[in-house]
Amino acid sequence: MPRILSGVQPTGQLHLGNWAGAIRQFVELQQPGNEVFVFVASYHALTTLRDPAVLRDNCRQVVTDYLAFGLDPARTTIYLQHDVPEVTELHWLLSCVCPNHLMDKAVSYKDKLNKGLSANIGLYCYPILQAADILGPQADIVPVGRDQVQHIEITRDLAGMFNHAFSCEVFRQPAYRLSATAEVLPGVDGEKMSKSYGNTIDPFQDEKALRKRVMGIKTDSKGMDDAKDPATCPVFRIAKGVAGADDPRIIDLERKYREPPAGGFGYGHAKQALFEILLDVFAESRRRRAELMADPGAVDACLRDGAQRARAVISQTVAAARAATGLSA
Ligand code: ADP
Ligand code: TRP
Repeated sequence: MPRILSGVQPTGQLHLGNWAGAIRQFVELQQPGNEVFVFVASYHALTTLRDPAVLRDNCRQVVTDYLAFGLDPARTTIYLQHDVPEVTELHWLLSCVCPNHLMDKAVSYKDKLNKGLSANIGLYCYPILQAADILGPQADIVPVGRDQVQHIEITRDLAGMFNHAFSCEVFRQPAYRLSATAEVLPGVDGEKMSKSYGNTIDPFQDEKALRKRVMGIKTDSKGMDDAKDPATCPVFRIAKGVAGADDPRIIDLERKYREPPAGGFGYGHAKQALFEILLDVFAESRRRRAELMADPGAVDACLRDGAQRARAVISQTVAAARAATGLSA
């Protein structure tokens, strides 16, 4: 039975990009025949967060959003990374076979420094911790957005290096899985939608605030009767990323961009169409989220159960890795 694993850092409110690139895949993959693990990468967030109350709140928020987006604790093991401290031991065992050059070439580290985050060893070794997350439950498939591909390649390298160094077969090599569209969703400013750029759209915002956010998306200054290029317009790209290229609403929108109908078709109309698509696609998630906010016990129960299940599996792998190194009797 293929084992699927992924996670998201609790560094801020989840957004449409996280859903389109990552979470939508987690939900799709919850099928009979798959064993799915989805966690909250809280140790990873500690490479940048310095406010304990914020970290605690963010962790709960991510779990609440996972459940609202449709992850089902009966089918998926949902857990907080720090509820499974064995992950950090695995990080150490892997770091001892990791050559420096493997971290030196990781683009995420350089990107993060470019974004203004301050350097620390945790941030530098971030990909080793991610490898521990993936190798601990012996995942076969890791659904992620395109920016995470290098991390999965590093994970494969580390699995091979450990097995080779200790002449064992403790780890299996995982593959990544990109979402069907595999597009990077732009934010309201047209750049990659990211928590760290302040350009995100939160599908759980109340209607008024959500509409305002959508109406604020940056567009060019083409008029109502001008033909427009959907491929470069963030409003269209977000709508397509959320609803899918085959959705009749997207086909209609694309036609109106290229050939505005009599009476004209402006960006205001396109934004209204996007707003309506968001309300429609996320109607069920928004309803579930409101319920979960009123029932914190459901989140607690999901995490208690998830921690137990994840720990049972991960501690077996860590025991095998320890034994391979000679760290056991
Ligand atoms: P952020 O850039 O907002 O901090 P993360 O790095 O926490 O997002 O990403 C969590 C997951 O969401 C990853 O699998 C990532 O590839 C995916 N993701 C993030 N932003 C986007 C985006 N704009 N488009 C598609 N996928 C994205
Ligand atoms: N690095 C991932 C991100 O920024 C989060 C993450 C941590 C992750 N550990 C993981 C994703 C293991 C997949 C598998 O989005």
